[in-house]
Amino acid sequence: MTSILLLTSSPRGGASHSTRVAAGVLEELRRVHPQASVIVRDLAKDPVAHIDEDFVTGIFVPSDRLNEEQRERLAQSDALIDELLAADVVVIAVAMINFGIPSTLKAWIDHVTRAGRTFQYGESGPRGLVTGKQVILVEAKGGVYSEGPRRELDHVTPYLLQLLAFLGMTDVKVIGIEGTALGPEAAERAVGTGLERAIELMRELTPDAAATTPPPHWPPKGRTKRNCMPWCHSEPTIAELLSDPIVRALMAADRVAPEELRANLAKIAGTLEPQHREVRQRGCSQATSPA
Ligand SMILES: Cc1cc2nc3c(=O)[nH]c(=O)nc-3n(C[C@H](O)[C@H](O)[C@H](O)COP(=O)(O)O)c2cc1C
Repeated sequence: MTSILLLTSSPRGGASHSTRVAAGVLEELRRVHPQASVIVRDLAKDPVAHIDEDFVTGIFVPSDRLNEEQRERLAQSDALIDELLAADVVVIAVAMINFGIPSTLKAWIDHVTRAGRTFQYGESGPRGLVTGKQVILVEAKGGVYSEGPRRELDHVTPYLLQLLAFLGMTDVKVIGIEGTALGPEAAERAVGTGLERAIELMRELTPDAAATTPPPHWPPKGRTKRNCMPWCHSEPTIAELLSDPIVRALMAADRVAPEELRANLAKIAGTLEPQHREVRQRGCSQATSPA
């Protein structure tokens, strides 16, 4: 059975774009791995403590000579490492904060980067022990860093890729959501692109499963997303909802959080412009996306 570990780290709560897209990634993963076990860790809401003196002294002490504080610190670190080692797929949602990663994610990294457990030194230097994982990084940044003069200011992607490789995780896919501070429309576009990338990624990561397991409700056989509205079907996934242009426009205007979308689908549909409602009533076969 596939195990998925999802870490979110944005301090922006329900407004977080990285968390939204990571939720879409998780939906897609669940679609191709319906039996998967999932652990979700919100490092912003439930932060792990920063490492301290008890931790850094404890890692050099034989286990039978640890004092109570050191034992406690290492027990937490061990639990986080066990969680990481047990995962087949690790999804890390990151918000750029002051050109780097959130301090809560850094605290988690400091706990799981431990000699003898997740890396070890050998004759040819350090070797990562966290191997065989698929990692998906979902990174939201206020500015644009993938090209242009700000490239060198990005201390999120290079740092995380280097750190993950150090620990042995070299199969890393990055979903970039850039320019979220350039206005709501730019942010929605970036999120939409991120969600599309998530769907593409599933095909890359699990070509057989993705090809043979169509989404249960959307799009229905013979129809494409462009000629079918998501609320023509029961239970569209969050990713599908978020990729719909009307839903995206509503979210941009009303700042509807993705978790609220599913619960409020009927209400949202009810607020649509008359022509959209008409499209909905006509049904999928004639519906055309107003994109
Ligand atoms: C405290 C704080 C610091 C930020 N620092 C930067 C920064 O240095 N560079 C940048 O491009 N965006 C910065 N941003 C904008 C965020 O990267 C942007 O809002 C992004 O969408 C955050 O990810 P999230 O949507 O998952 O929360 C900052 C935002 C906050 C709240």
